Amino acid sequence: MNIIDFKDNVFLLSTKETSYLFRVDKYGHLEHIHYGPKVRMEDWDALSLKHKILFGSTVMYHERDDIMTLDSVAQEYGSYGQGDFKEASIEIEGNGSYTCDFRYVSHEIVEGNVPVKDLPSSYGAAQTLIVHTADDINGLKLDLYYSVYPEEDVISRRAVLINGSRKTFTLHRLMSYCLDLFEKDLVMMDFSGAWDKETHLNEKELKQGTYTIGSRVGFSSAKCNPGFLIRRKDTTEDHGKAWGFNLVYSGNHYSSVSKDEYSIHRIQGGISPERFHSELKAGQSFETPEAILTFSDRGLNHLSHHFHDFINEHIVRSDWKKKERPVLINSWEGFGFDFKKDDLIRKLARNAVSLGMELFVLDDGWFGRRNSDKRGLGDYNCNIRKIPGGISSLSSEIHKLGLLFGIWVEPEAINVDSKLYENHPEYALWEKDRPPFYGRNELLMDLTNPEVRDYIVDNVSRLIDDNKVDYIKWDMNRMMNAVSGEYNHEYLKGLYDVLGRLFLPRPWVLFESCSSGGNRFDLGMLCYSPQIWSSDDTDPIERIDIQKGLSYLYPLSTMGAHVSQSPHMQTLRATPLETRFNVSAYGCLGYELDLSLLSRLERIEVAKQIAFYKQHRHTFQYGRFYRGDQDEYETFEVKDDETMITKFRRIVHAVPVYDKLYLHDLDDEKVYRIESKPYLHNLKQFGHLINFVSPVKLNSEGKIVDTLSKIKGMEASIQTYEASGAALKSGIYLNNLFLGTGYNDNVRIPLDYGSDMYEVKEIQ
Ligand code: GLA
Repeated sequence: MNIIDFKDNVFLLSTKETSYLFRVDKYGHLEHIHYGPKVRMEDWDALSLKHKILFGSTVMYHERDDIMTLDSVAQEYGSYGQGDFKEASIEIEGNGSYTCDFRYVSHEIVEGNVPVKDLPSSYGAAQTLIVHTADDINGLKLDLYYSVYPEEDVISRRAVLINGSRKTFTLHRLMSYCLDLFEKDLVMMDFSGAWDKETHLNEKELKQGTYTIGSRVGFSSAKCNPGFLIRRKDTTEDHGKAWGFNLVYSGNHYSSVSKDEYSIHRIQGGISPERFHSELKAGQSFETPEAILTFSDRGLNHLSHHFHDFINEHIVRSDWKKKERPVLINSWEGFGFDFKKDDLIRKLARNAVSLGMELFVLDDGWFGRRNSDKRGLGDYNCNIRKIPGGISSLSSEIHKLGLLFGIWVEPEAINVDSKLYENHPEYALWEKDRPPFYGRNELLMDLTNPEVRDYIVDNVSRLIDDNKVDYIKWDMNRMMNAVSGEYNHEYLKGLYDVLGRLFLPRPWVLFESCSSGGNRFDLGMLCYSPQIWSSDDTDPIERIDIQKGLSYLYPLSTMGAHVSQSPHMQTLRATPLETRFNVSAYGCLGYELDLSLLSRLERIEVAKQIAFYKQHRHTFQYGRFYRGDQDEYETFEVKDDETMITKFRRIVHAVPVYDKLYLHDLDDEKVYRIESKPYLHNLKQFGHLINFVSPVKLNSEGKIVDTLSKIKGMEASIQTYEASGAALKSGIYLNNLFLGTGYNDNVRIPLDYGSDMYEVKEIQ
């Protein structure tokens, strides 16, 4: 298979299952023809939009051509001023004019990638096509880059603008890509939310008009992830056409889908043009971040698999690429700022070892005067009152216990109440002729200042190297009210410089990025941090939506997911320990609670959970993930040589209907054994009903039940089934759920927020 072909002015980019086709028209414009299932190069004419008659009131491109108007041409990159009235991908102003008319000059095809200057980007492409275009009148040159990843069915795009004139221009917008798609009945799926409520699926049917998503909080944001999908109305998880888009960028972003009167959908994305104005002097150039595009005609699950494979193979770096991630214990939800070394060792680390955990993470509160979030950020001196002997002694004790050692930092921010601020108030970022605006009591640091970047690199390097740190949790806890879009971009370049200097030379360090949870879950950060803390919300019921939303765009190996104490500090909801594990297992598992408060029974359950997770870890982190959409329950399924599938319930209704288990991607002819994962129900959940099975009458609120519930639970019914792959794909019925008419060992107990995980193995 040729990856990039060029013949008779037509370009064909090929991946395993997709074709991307465009051509140079008779005027030199790049006309988009097709992005979808595989087609032949010779199909270009049949596939392209026809221009046999002029549309009313449009502007003709050429005075002797009364048919051709750029307004109804699908284009590779839209600009304003020559008859195309769709939203432009470039806005640049020189001498009061915004008009641009880029036409083909030449092209080159190179092996592999051409890295983006000063920004992270993907690696390992098969080939890259660079199409050089130019506007002969204003002297601007525009290069369009297409990198092809045949195995993952991904094409990445980006643009580089070069000022080839002698004048200075002001650049207001330069999108990474533009895709003019002609399809009927499209729906846009974006992933929006807030702190504690990230990546909730948000669907909009597209009518004539413009739909935009974006961020103006300085970072990719919990309000709206930069990744989004477009699907046909009838597309489901397992059938139909869908397109996926994302950006390798962590700053203010913008994407729009506009449907015009001809039903051309112009899709584009890149750095947010809001308040963006960059001076482009003679000879200077501007490079956009890279955008990632993918297509599938086999449903949304398959589309997500393209993203997952692409990220695991071409975005994530370091020794942790494709490596199983350790089960961690994090101090934050259990202890907050209030701990002593003794608590960390006795209550957390020793228990963690005996429960089978592998990595100890000391979260916020270990440095300076940081006993609350009001002070200390910017300082790196260990608080000796909390940790006598300092971080190196803690790290060595943790290592002696056989655990890896990890630590929290928030290097981009500064508290006014800190030693650093006393010495270097100029490092803090705010408009000095206005009062400062705080977020979580902190200011950001000016990462455009090389001295600030050196300060961070020096201190974090020392922290890692002097204390044999194996893992870093890099947090960033506020939004940025940047003076301009341009400043935001320069800040991001500064951040990437810092991350590159710190982590590329230390590939053994497991770097987990965090931003009040998922305020910066994006491909830019994933180029440095193999995993990201998905959300500060650890309530598993909320997490189902958050992790499901993330799964459309990102693989399970990138999602930090922790079991925490119930009732949950974010929702006050009480949830079963089993469900907390069952959600967190679909990601990089951790625990975030005071382990010394676990009851004897909970300890046994947690130890079993961890052993189970480790046994199936490769499947949970790197298996093929499927979202189910066949019944009222949320289903997470992950498949490697084995399948782990879980059905999650929210609110139980009386007389629950029959429910089925549907599996994906099995061999029709083979026979499989399905076994439910054993677990215990907490006796207290049954209240006074316990007396229906107890030989003696018990007070459900009394001491005996209380004590009993800490050492004994009720075994969930163990279910086993056998079925062929064909039967499992069409769906097998599960045992009945409890109906209120009685109970026996074969009946499943539903419970609000309950869940059941099944292990599916081929029978030899
Ligand atoms: C943020 C993070 C949390 C925790 C706290 C510590 O909120 O998202 O996980 O690290 O900061 O202050």
